Order: sequence, then structure tokens, then C-alpha cells
Amino acid sequence: MASERVVIFDTTLRDGEQSPGASMNLEEKLNIASVLEGMGVDVIEAGFPIASDGDFEAVNEIAKVVKNSTVCGLARATHMDIDRAAEALKPATRKRIHTFLSTSPLHMKYKLQMEPDAVHEAVIDSVSYARNFTDDVEWSPEDGSRTEHDFLCKCVESAIRAGAGTINIPDTVGYAVPEEFAALISMLFNRVPNIDQAVISVHCHNDLGLAVANSLAAVQVGARQVECTINGLGERAGNAAMEEIVMALRTRADAMPFETGIRTEDIIKASRLVSAITGFAVQPNKAIVGKNAFAHESGIHQDGVLKHAETYEIMTPESVGLTQSSLVMGKHSGRHAFKEKLKDLGYDLGDNAVQDAFKRFKDLADLKKDVFDEDIIALVDDEVVRVNDRIKLVSLEVLCGTEHRPPKATMSLEIDGKTSSCTATGDGPVDAAFNGVKQLYPHDVSLQLYQVHAVTEGTDAQAEVTVRLEENGKTVNGAGAETDTMVASVKAYLNALNKLLVKREKTDPGARSV
Ligand code: KIV
Ligand code: ZN
Repeated sequence: MASERVVIFDTTLRDGEQSPGASMNLEEKLNIASVLEGMGVDVIEAGFPIASDGDFEAVNEIAKVVKNSTVCGLARATHMDIDRAAEALKPATRKRIHTFLSTSPLHMKYKLQMEPDAVHEAVIDSVSYARNFTDDVEWSPEDGSRTEHDFLCKCVESAIRAGAGTINIPDTVGYAVPEEFAALISMLFNRVPNIDQAVISVHCHNDLGLAVANSLAAVQVGARQVECTINGLGERAGNAAMEEIVMALRTRADAMPFETGIRTEDIIKASRLVSAITGFAVQPNKAIVGKNAFAHESGIHQDGVLKHAETYEIMTPESVGLTQSSLVMGKHSGRHAFKEKLKDLGYDLGDNAVQDAFKRFKDLADLKKDVFDEDIIALVDDEVVRVNDRIKLVSLEVLCGTEHRPPKATMSLEIDGKTSSCTATGDGPVDAAFNGVKQLYPHDVSLQLYQVHAVTEGTDAQAEVTVRLEENGKTVNGAGAETDTMVASVKAYLNALNKLLVKREKTDPGARSV
């Protein structure tokens, strides 16, 4: 019997971006959208166009370039929101407007301050209005899992009659438990007379760690779209993790005979990209994409896996795109081999970018004995984030340790083409270096996150540093990867600062100085 298809609706760029600190710029969103499209995501929710000019632009640009996935824009139940979403989605080959309105007693009373009848009218009006712009309209009753059943059935029936082809039931606050959530979906199938005219979707949050379990329970009783995000990013504790949904369906096809169109071999690439861009590290024991997900530490397990992998592996590392950490090349490797390696790792770079990456690879091979796939990935990702920077690191020297108190950083920066130098001190070497940047380019922003992790094992490993800066409620993430942790730190700081300057210029085009 052929398996039934489950539509994968990815909301990394919308709900995922709503995670505090996970904001992404246009280039980063385009990058992620391209990976999502490549891996076979059916619907990409690209943003909430009315939320800001940046969100509008991102949805609009993604709509221009994505050809194989449906591009979706979120809108509240107002004509203004829907107009803005429709405008942003205009260039899309396939477009969807996703409109939503709260239906739970709590939300209607305190958040919307609307009577149920008015909410019901607004549902009909918003869905009908959205249908003027596209045949593909999705409607969500926000806080659906805490909505009274009679009212939920009434709104769902009306939304379908008004033209919604997808009805998405959110567990907005991550309150549901699997059996109960499945019963809610079954209840809709049993009681809504026109339910067969729509695809039923679910959107589960992870506040109790049940987002994936709830989503899969819903699929088993008839839901045929799952809304999810890479690495489970999203509001508060996040959304259902796409990699977990997809691999659970693939690995346990015997228990859950459903297919997705996802090329699972791209999962690790997508996970790493989202983690690098947002600065949200993936916990080592995270299912599917954690560093330890396929590692076998105990002797008994290692012995078992060597004898027969299935003793302790329920899926192969290759099925999610994990290649054996292999020694790639040394300093004698040529440009051609390097280019092939980039292709193997899933990078499709232009000639100039390959040239720059190759030069950095050669420098790295001089510094580091063994160059692994992970090193190449970190190096290329580092190159990708540093485009059109106004402030660049020219040189850095840091003195620290027991004989150098306080630590001292001497640095040169190129700012808008002009090089200047300074020496600064601080509580520690990182503090001294960041103070140096502030001395050369005075600015007043708050450092919200400074995080270092080693790309590979060993003391000569590259350090991957993430810096998050905040200004007037806007946050940006910067990244830097180098064998020298201090250089990586300053590069990450400058990367974040450069992004902040771009943000400032967008809100105030005259703002070239601090
Ligand atoms: O969690 C939620 O209810 C949402 C809706 C907009 C679908 O994100
Ligand atoms: Zn949500």
C-alpha cells in the first residue's frame, strides 16, 4: 500500500525568528530559504510582512527566488495585514497567505477583547479577503488546543466555507499532551461537515517537550501537514523540530506509514546553517542533529556497532547527511580537490568565493596539522557571513596571563577604508579586545551573548565564536571562526557590529556614524 504524504511546512524564518535573539538579516534568510527549498520543504513560511519593513523585504525577496516550494506569508485577520502579505508574495511562483485569529476564551477575552460572534465574523471576512489574492489560503485558530470544541468546529467549518484550503490547529502554548491532541483532531474530523475539503495541519510548541509527540499523534489520526522548524527553533521553548518529525516518519515507517518529500541527507547542513546564523548552539544530545546523536562512547556500544551497526543505530549517520569526520586535505592539496570537497559538503560557491575560501584553507593548513570537514564548513560559513563589512580587523595582539595584568589588546581596524590603531585594557583578554573595538569605533550597545565552541577535537581546533549585540531592542548575531580564539572573538564582535550598522542605516538612511 502506498504511504500517504505529509506536507512539511517550515516556519524557521517566521516562528523560528521570533525566538528572542534569533533575528536574521536578509542575506541569511535567503540562504536558509535556499537550503529549505533544496531539501524539499513543501511550504516555507518566510515571515510576517506587516511586522516590519525587513520582514516584508525578506518575504518579497524569497518569493522572487524560490521556485519549488510554496512561499507563505503570515497575516492577522485584518485587511491591512493581508494586503501587505499579498504584496510581499506577489512575485512568488506558488504563494500562500496564512491568516490567524485567536479563538480560545482566554485569548478572546483578554488579548483580543472581542466577543466570539465578532471573532467568527472576522474569520470569515479574513479568509474570504485573502482568497482575492491567492487560491492557497491557510487559516489558524490561535490557541486552538485551548478553544471550546463547539466554537472551534464552527470557526473551522466557516473558514473552509470561506475558502481556506488548509486548516492549521496550533497548540500555541505547548499545553497539549499527545492522546488529547490526537482526540482534538479526531473530533474535528468527526464533527466538521466540510472537513474533507481542507488539509488539516498542526503547529505544536514545545513548552512541555511534547511538540514532536503531539504532531505525530495528530498525523496518526489524519493531519496531513506539520508545521515545524529546523533545530526546533521558535517562540519560548520552540516548535516541533523538523528533523525529528521527518526522521521519525522515515525510521518508523512500520508504525507510521507516511512519507515526506524531504531529502533527509540535507538535515545536518540545514541544522548547522541555522545554528551558525542564529548563534543558537545545538545541544550535544539533541535528537538527530546533536553532536552525540551518532556517537558511541561506551566500550560495549562501540563493540556492538563495529560488529553490526544496527545493534545501537536505528538510522544511519549518512541518512541525515553526516559523513565520517574525515581528514580532508593537507597543505599540499590543490584548488581542484578543494573545489570538489566544497561540492561534497553541499556548497555551491562562485569563483571569487572559492578563491577566498581556498586561500583561508591554505592558511589554516599551515596552522593546523589535520584539516577536517568540520574545519572547512566553519571556514566557508565564516567567509559567507563577512560580506560588505564596513569595519574589518587588520591586526590584533593580546597580552595576558599572570605577568600581564591587566590584559592588554593592541589592534588595528579598517573603518570605511581608513586604518586606525589603539591599545586597550580590560578585565580579561576578551574584554580588553572588545574595549579596543569600542575605542576605535565608539558605540553604545549591549553585549548579550559571548559563546565559544571548538569546531573539532584537540587543542589546535578552530574556535567558533558567537557574539550577540543589542541596540534599542534589536539584536544581531555575529560569528567568527579561527584557530586563534581571540581573533575569532574580535571577528565575531565586528561581524555583529557591522550587521547592526546595516540595520541602523535601514531605519535611518542618514546614519553613517555612531
Ligand atoms: O503558535 C501559534 O499559534 C502561531 C500561529 C500564528 C499559527 O504561531
Ligand atoms: Zn507558533
